[in-house]
Amino acid sequence: MLRRASKAQVCRQTQGLNLAIDTASLVLGIETTCDETAAAVIERGSDGRGRILSNIVHSQIEDHAPYGGVVPEIAARAHVDLLDGVIARAMRQADVRFVQLSGVAAAAGPGLIGGVIVGLTTAKAITLVHGTPLIAVNHLEAHALTPRLTHALPFPYCLFLASGGHTQIVAVLGVGDYVRLGTTVDDAMGEAFDKVAKMLGLPYPGGPQVERAAETGDRERFAFPRPMLGRPDANFSLSGLKTAVRNEASRLEPLERQDVCDLCAGFQAAVLETIIDRLDVGLAQFAERFGPPQALVAAGGVASNQAIRGALQTAADRAGTEFIIPPPKLCTDNGAMIAWAGAERLALGLTDPLETAPRARWLLDANVTTPAKFANTRAGF
Ligand code: KG4
Ligand code: ZN
Repeated sequence: MLRRASKAQVCRQTQGLNLAIDTASLVLGIETTCDETAAAVIERGSDGRGRILSNIVHSQIEDHAPYGGVVPEIAARAHVDLLDGVIARAMRQADVRFVQLSGVAAAAGPGLIGGVIVGLTTAKAITLVHGTPLIAVNHLEAHALTPRLTHALPFPYCLFLASGGHTQIVAVLGVGDYVRLGTTVDDAMGEAFDKVAKMLGLPYPGGPQVERAAETGDRERFAFPRPMLGRPDANFSLSGLKTAVRNEASRLEPLERQDVCDLCAGFQAAVLETIIDRLDVGLAQFAERFGPPQALVAAGGVASNQAIRGALQTAADRAGTEFIIPPPKLCTDNGAMIAWAGAERLALGLTDPLETAPRARWLLDANVTTPAKFANTRAGF
């Protein structure tokens, strides 16, 4: 039976990896919050270092592409159909049996509630049958802790998380100890890429399409706004920029291929400038409040954009800190990040009861409120 860690132990744990006081663990992680059905098994050594034994991700992109975005009901049904098989493959590839697991971790939110219910209920069933501890993981926490799995990064560090549902700058101070420094007040960054792609007739998911089109576009042709530039807070706003692209696009109708490329290049250039400016503020706030970060870390699908990686490197250089980015497979949604967050929590004795409820919304930083326009967008958590 696991004991809850004392406050002192938690504090020591938050200082870095070397003071870990726990034993080795094997954890199964389940991810079903959006359109990836994923499961993975990871091993966490008593020195706090992690090893991925398997990491199976089934993307549902093909199911959703005809609709131009993720359809929650289709996603939930697909998770039901796919999850057992994905877990079986993850266990087989890791060569681990359920009885050997130290814990089963599932993303209990935030996300599309139908999918979250499928993953969490499945995890509960496994823990009930095998008497294994359950760890209900916050999906955002899993993104936040991934660089400790891939780079054994000690706390504290600064996370830039940008996906279809989130755009945040977060101070990661320890397991369960997060301070949100900035967030979007309207659309998420990936959502803005997807919407721009859709209005220009590019297929879903739009981010990679916009990036590709931007490569041959003229970024100077349109003078798009740079939202939030120079503001003293570290927040983002993307819907005004998106509307500016829409207005230019309607003015130019019918669009030639070169118009599309120029619009994408102009949009992406505005995003890049915004990212650097917002991170200048976020990283300065970090240093002021918590001292110098160990690194700037990126996560989320948007971080696979090469130009955006360049902007993040620039922001890190300007702040005099290292830039770290996990491999693309671990930046986007996956089971290994859930398993790892579960293992980090388990090492501190942080397990959850079977009554734990799935959560559509779940802020990483309990001390912040959601922006006003929050409910209108996918960036609603
Ligand atoms: O993290 P992710 O795989 O899933 C979640 O949203 O949770 O992120 C997907 C998002 C989509 O909005 C997609 O368009 C965006 O990340 N994305 C990109 C790129 N690749 C994926 N955005 C810009 N440039 C890219 N290369
Ligand atoms: Zn995610």
